[in-house]
Amino acid sequence: MLDRRAFLLSGLTAYGASARALFAGGAVLQSPKFPTSPFTLGVCSGDPAPDGVVLWTRLAIDPLNGGGMPRQPVEVLWEIAADDRMSKVVQSGKAIASPDWGHTVHVEASGLQPHRWYWYRFRAGNEVSPIGRTRTFPAPGAAVERLRFAIASCQHFEVGLYTAYRHMADEDLDLVMHLGDYIYENAGRENFVRKHVGGELTTLNDYRNRYAQYRSDPALRAVHAQFPFLVVWDDHEVDNNYAGLYDESGTPVEQFALRRAAAYRAYFEHMPLRRSSIPSGAMLQLYRPFTYGTLANILMLDTRQYRTDQPCGDNVQLICDGARDARATLLGDAQEKWLMDRLDRSRAGWNLLGQQIPIAPLDRAPGPEHRYSMDKWDGYQASRSRLLKFFGTRKPSNPIVLAGDVHNNWVNDLHLNADDPKTPVVASEFVGTSITSAGDGSDMSPSMKAVVSENECVRFANDQRGYVRFELKPKELRSDYRVVEYVSRPDAPIKTRASFVVEEGHPGAKPA
Ligand SMILES: [Fe+2]
Repeated sequence: MLDRRAFLLSGLTAYGASARALFAGGAVLQSPKFPTSPFTLGVCSGDPAPDGVVLWTRLAIDPLNGGGMPRQPVEVLWEIAADDRMSKVVQSGKAIASPDWGHTVHVEASGLQPHRWYWYRFRAGNEVSPIGRTRTFPAPGAAVERLRFAIASCQHFEVGLYTAYRHMADEDLDLVMHLGDYIYENAGRENFVRKHVGGELTTLNDYRNRYAQYRSDPALRAVHAQFPFLVVWDDHEVDNNYAGLYDESGTPVEQFALRRAAAYRAYFEHMPLRRSSIPSGAMLQLYRPFTYGTLANILMLDTRQYRTDQPCGDNVQLICDGARDARATLLGDAQEKWLMDRLDRSRAGWNLLGQQIPIAPLDRAPGPEHRYSMDKWDGYQASRSRLLKFFGTRKPSNPIVLAGDVHNNWVNDLHLNADDPKTPVVASEFVGTSITSAGDGSDMSPSMKAVVSENECVRFANDQRGYVRFELKPKELRSDYRVVEYVSRPDAPIKTRASFVVEEGHPGAKPA
């Protein structure tokens, strides 16, 4: 208590009485004195372009309790250097960490060189942040030989440790894609590996504290400081299995809209997103395009915000009429049109779709009955048919679907007609397992084995935790399924469980 009051007073004194800059929160603190470092959540970067990248930090001296900062904006200095010791500074500037945005900072750096590493850090008062490393994308039209990246998803804090991220930080990558479930919204529970602070998330302050708790993990901070990220959310950044403005418990939409607005705002605050993603109420523009030289067109999708409600309940069901309804949509009309336009116009060798949920049909009922999870593309069959038909007829070059959500590893063939494995393969799907969600796991459970044997499109499945590492070259995409043996105890080693390749011009993954 004393610390916080001392901080407030020292900040006010440092600012003095003469400044005139006005923010909603009051006058800008230019050189506050902090009782402890405010850079408790580390740094991160994301949404790279050929000439720039977003740099992020947040000031929070009491991160699990609203941040502990005064209701005043604070001046933050930033620097970008060409070397890891920050001795060759190439750009610097000032930003404002506003209390309206949880004292987060998003610097949209520009004027950088394409396709190279940079290092960055922030300064507030006398405190300096850790140094982060980031990388710009290649120039448009540049012939690029290689892109190394990883996909991650589903990092439930309570059920496991982020050992996979510790290993990922040691990989040689250009980029990480996070495909959703960055946080989970449930109240703290007993008898798990770790415990969420607080109850089920509903308010902006709740969501802020949860992001702060997740970023309190040093392995997560380390991987952010090492690579730029492209992020998209799934459901748990707001509420389990929500669809558009419908939550899973029948809350009136106008009530759920308030919760979604709080959640989206906290998501923007804590992610390295550009100004184009600043939320407006319960809306946030998350689907967005990237170009990686001539090698790859990367389209990050949002299958949550615009979808119609799940048909016949959210769970594993027999296919009902609602799942076949042509009016049901997973992307919404505008995003679907945007996606197809972007694929049509793409000149890149490969087209990567970074999105949340698996597209391949997956009958989850062992035996003759067919049951599907209505929360996946299986519940939105018209949307899926349009996309697969688009792949088959418009033939965008080498479409690759990336997904998370289901907490296991899968490699799937996507057929022109999803229900008919005799129709041509039009794309390959790589589903990455969770970082922690579902706990330790095993190579494959008996029930998973039964499901795999009934689904012809499945090339590989595994039920351990980890991430997928990719190496994309003009002629070949290679994937390495990296798994840790356990997440309930520290220091699990990592290994490559399986590797697959897709050859340019030949959809369908083969064992490497
Ligand atoms: Fe998840």
